[in-house]
Amino acid sequence: MGDLAGVVGKLPYLAGLGVDGLWLNPFYASPGHDHGYDVADHCAVDPAYGSLEGFDELVATAHGHGIRVILDVVPNHASIAHPWFAAALAAGPGSPQRGRFHFADGQGPDGNEPPNNWRSIFGGPAWTRISEPDGTPGQWYLHTFAAEQPDWNWTHADVPALFERVLSFWLDRGVDGFRVDVAQGLHKLAGLPDHPDAWADEATGDPVNPNAWNQPAVHQVWRSWRRLVEDYTARDGRDRLLIGEVGLTDPAAVADYTRPGELHHTFCFPFAHATFDADTYRHVITTALAHHPDGVAWVANNHDLPRAVTRHTPTPRDRDGDGDGDGEELPAGADPAQIGLARARAAAALMLALPGAVYLYQGEELGLPDVADLPVTVLKDPMYHRSGGTRPGRDGCRVPLPWTTSPDHHHGFSPPATTTPAWLPQPPTWADLAADTQHHTTTSTLNLYRQALALRRTIPDLATTTLTLHTDTPPGLLALSRGTHLTTYTNTTHHPIPTPHPHPGQPILTTHPTPHPTDTIPPNTTVWYHHDTPADAASTADDAVTEAI
Ligand code: GLC
Repeated sequence: MGDLAGVVGKLPYLAGLGVDGLWLNPFYASPGHDHGYDVADHCAVDPAYGSLEGFDELVATAHGHGIRVILDVVPNHASIAHPWFAAALAAGPGSPQRGRFHFADGQGPDGNEPPNNWRSIFGGPAWTRISEPDGTPGQWYLHTFAAEQPDWNWTHADVPALFERVLSFWLDRGVDGFRVDVAQGLHKLAGLPDHPDAWADEATGDPVNPNAWNQPAVHQVWRSWRRLVEDYTARDGRDRLLIGEVGLTDPAAVADYTRPGELHHTFCFPFAHATFDADTYRHVITTALAHHPDGVAWVANNHDLPRAVTRHTPTPRDRDGDGDGDGEELPAGADPAQIGLARARAAAALMLALPGAVYLYQGEELGLPDVADLPVTVLKDPMYHRSGGTRPGRDGCRVPLPWTTSPDHHHGFSPPATTTPAWLPQPPTWADLAADTQHHTTTSTLNLYRQALALRRTIPDLATTTLTLHTDTPPGLLALSRGTHLTTYTNTTHHPIPTPHPHPGQPILTTHPTPHPTDTIPPNTTVWYHHDTPADAASTADDAVTEAI
């Protein structure tokens, strides 16, 4: 399954990769119905992952490498194995213990219809009926996600108090911040009225229920959490970070979560969802910078999304290349999988050239694709199971990454003594993507990420907040400058494009695996150029749409 000791063992790899922080998905005591996002004890390490002592060692060792540690905190919902949920079941209707969750009587003569029409994001109703302590059919409880994840009632004073204790517990152990799960959740509209378009939640998996999401009161929570982490900073001078997963589609509503005194960052999901297209990226970048002038947190991959390599792979119906409008026309003989990889590399180099923070997901630095053909018998994701298999779920992006070319011990993922299968099986083709092979291959995706991250640290222009997006570029070419000495081009077409400026500067990074003329951007490629004087900058600087953000 992976464990904390395994993370400690790979900290030198992460330091060599060049990251300066590590966000850990939940490792707390949990029955694991949603990959640990169903937390039974927020202050305990699940024995499958290690111990508190092991966690302390992880923090100390990470800090020794200059890597900060951010934990995942899950405040929208608990686990049915949380002791407060057991207490709620035992205490009966109307009790303060039930008040910590959303329990309600059912509708209909026998109360056997859910209290409202809300749907679970993973599929099915958002309510499950319990048996009362005397065995009779009883009340229902709300769960926005799986039935094993009852939603907390944030208007009950015990709930905010619990989470303040949880944050303090981990801050006292030295963590550097928190990634906040479902940060648009927590509070619900009083009375839990029906959602006029309830099926949309289930059909898309997008959190769109206006009665369950983005209630004004949630911002009070973020203000109180910000005060709490600032108190720690005031004591020892060390920064602490709060970054929210805000799954709202309106960029202005997302921006409300990073108002002064609230969260520091929210993930920029539009970047991850962008198709590989220059105009789309230009729009996404401009919008994100406009709404988050203090810093965007870019992201192209995470544990909930199909991996970028797969997302950017042209779909089978595009492969005929017949230009009949049903998709993308590919060059003759093109391999869609190679196009997906080339685009993922180019998108990563674009992202790593942007101002702000960048969040990488394990294995993206190896160019891993999703594993689309996992046997149904190994699928774990409640999204797959609750949707009756109509939504594939997220297991495909969670397969353990291959450390070694040798298949032994699940490509080095498991300790040598392991005899059981890995929790999700790796495909045989991953031998070619193993970290040890990529380490020795100059043009590998691993070395591309290392190189980009190293340049991000060393080139002063990349440390500024200045970004210039150029507009008079040929179709399919995205050009941007950072500061005065760095210009990057991303070619999102299938044909080479000459750089608009005949002397673009010194190429310092290219995502193309083979040598190419310095004044030409190959298809599906990003190239970074360093130029010595501002005069050398791309000729389009006057047309900047975004300056000095
Ligand atoms: C967040 C997590 C996801 C989890 C869900 C419910 O979206 O990223 O993995 O399933 O919350 O906790």
